[in-house]
Amino acid sequence: MHDEKFKKLYEIKNLAEGVGREDKIESQHSKGKLTARERIELLLDAGSFLELDKYVIHRNDESPETKYYGDGVITGSGTIDGRQVFVYAYDFTVLGGSLGEMTSKKVVKVMSHALKVGTPIIGIIDSGGARIQEGAQSLDGYGDIFYHNTLASGVIPQITVSVGPCAGGAVYSPAMTDFVIMVESIGQMFVTGPEVVKEVLSQEVSFEELGGAKTHASKSGVAHMIAKNEYDCMEKIKRLLSFIPHNNTEISLIESQDDDNRLDPNLIKVLPENPYHPYDIKQIILSIVDKGDFYEIHELFAPNVVVGFARMGGKTVGIVANQPQFLAGALDIDSSNKAARFIRFCDSFNIPIITIVDTPGYLPGKDQEHHGIIRHGSKLLYAYCEATVPKITCIVGKAYGGAYIAMGSKNLRSDINLAWPTAEIAVLGPEAAITIIHRKDLKNSSDAIEKKKKLAEEYRKKFANPYIAAERGIIDLVIDPMETRAVIIKSLNTLSNKRESTLKKKHGNINL
Ligand code: HXC
Repeated sequence: MHDEKFKKLYEIKNLAEGVGREDKIESQHSKGKLTARERIELLLDAGSFLELDKYVIHRNDESPETKYYGDGVITGSGTIDGRQVFVYAYDFTVLGGSLGEMTSKKVVKVMSHALKVGTPIIGIIDSGGARIQEGAQSLDGYGDIFYHNTLASGVIPQITVSVGPCAGGAVYSPAMTDFVIMVESIGQMFVTGPEVVKEVLSQEVSFEELGGAKTHASKSGVAHMIAKNEYDCMEKIKRLLSFIPHNNTEISLIESQDDDNRLDPNLIKVLPENPYHPYDIKQIILSIVDKGDFYEIHELFAPNVVVGFARMGGKTVGIVANQPQFLAGALDIDSSNKAARFIRFCDSFNIPIITIVDTPGYLPGKDQEHHGIIRHGSKLLYAYCEATVPKITCIVGKAYGGAYIAMGSKNLRSDINLAWPTAEIAVLGPEAAITIIHRKDLKNSSDAIEKKKKLAEEYRKKFANPYIAAERGIIDLVIDPMETRAVIIKSLNTLSNKRESTLKKKHGNINL
């Protein structure tokens, strides 16, 4: 009697684990992809996976004799470096990992568990999108997933990875999560694939060009990171999770692994003598954070602003910095969106924001104006104003005009504002300013070029320095660059019990 029951258990267990689908598993491997089960094994601590809904069967009303145990997704919980997470991995060997009614129910169940328990949810996507055979029920299922993405937003970190095709509805859930990692060559994300593009628009475009990892990491900004392969992808998830808290009530803090008072006398040498020459702002970031360990997010997208996680004195911080190496560090549409979204993540998860400023302003021009720099640029202002976590800003070079205000200035509720002696805080850069205020003089001058140079020099001495702002208390302290790390860590410690309440409202209306 018992034997029969065990026989049944192992029969369906084997079916759920791929017996009968060996050809599909082989095809998955031949495409250079792991199976959903192999992916989960790679991600989680060995032996920690607790699988749920393993024996759920897909909606098989039309052919009841066909049973796919587990349907097109594997779901459950486990640990990563000993910390609890929930996970779902679409199984391409079952109907192309497409999403039907039961698939969506399984995904929503683990999302709900993750929300209740307060742990991150990780989605591994390799899916043909809404299951065509299930029609409206699959669309309904996506709606439920999107709703749960929204419920989880700002409560638990949501991470998705694209390790195969992510078509149709399979792209919108990742887009609603906090971090998207795409694996080179195999990850593809598109709302409508190349065949439909050809049919509707008569345009020939490859999968890779339309929705490959490089496209989404550098052009659309959908992907926050590219992984070389699936092994690298799982390592990237683990490293990301090591920086961030597991829910919005936690604070990510470890014992400091570095000297809090470490000085770097070479820091000033990072800035070129000529303020118009480019340099790499990451040299400053790497010098001031614990052990030079910086986890950059969105590295290839809008590189004129750098964002990422690091630790200072053991506390996780979010770094936002202008990058003079690209567009001279000017703010444009993409960089405003990138920084604003990152700031909002940090604010949701109690991560203090450190801003390093060297920017000549918002990028001028028809292209930016017509594509909405006003609308998009305002998001950065909004995100800084809204954030109640500790905010520390350090101006190292140019901080002109609107971009000075946008990059964590005092009135955007920044708590401690520092400046290097090299900081230039002004409404406009010297050349632009004197062209306006000395227009008549320059017009009447016999040697306009020389005069302009002289006036610009005078302007720089008079206005473009940190002391006028420091005299008004808009800058709290002008510091020696070598002590930047020590002063920021002291500031973080000072602000560690920061409490700031805001007016009660349903939610604000950021200009999307
Ligand atoms: C049912 C699907 C499927 C789907 C793939 N399959 N997509 N079954 N519904 N959406 C099945 C195939 O029939 C095949 O079954 C198996 O999965 C593998 O698919 P292949 O085409 O052989 O694989 P491959 O060549 O790697 O191509 C993968 C693919 C392609 C690029 C994903 O299958 C594809 O273009 N699928 C359709 C994508 C799509 O248009 N989805 C609907 C989007 S609309 P067998 O039995 O042969 O192994 C949508 C609306 C939601 O999602 C909107 C919400 C906002």
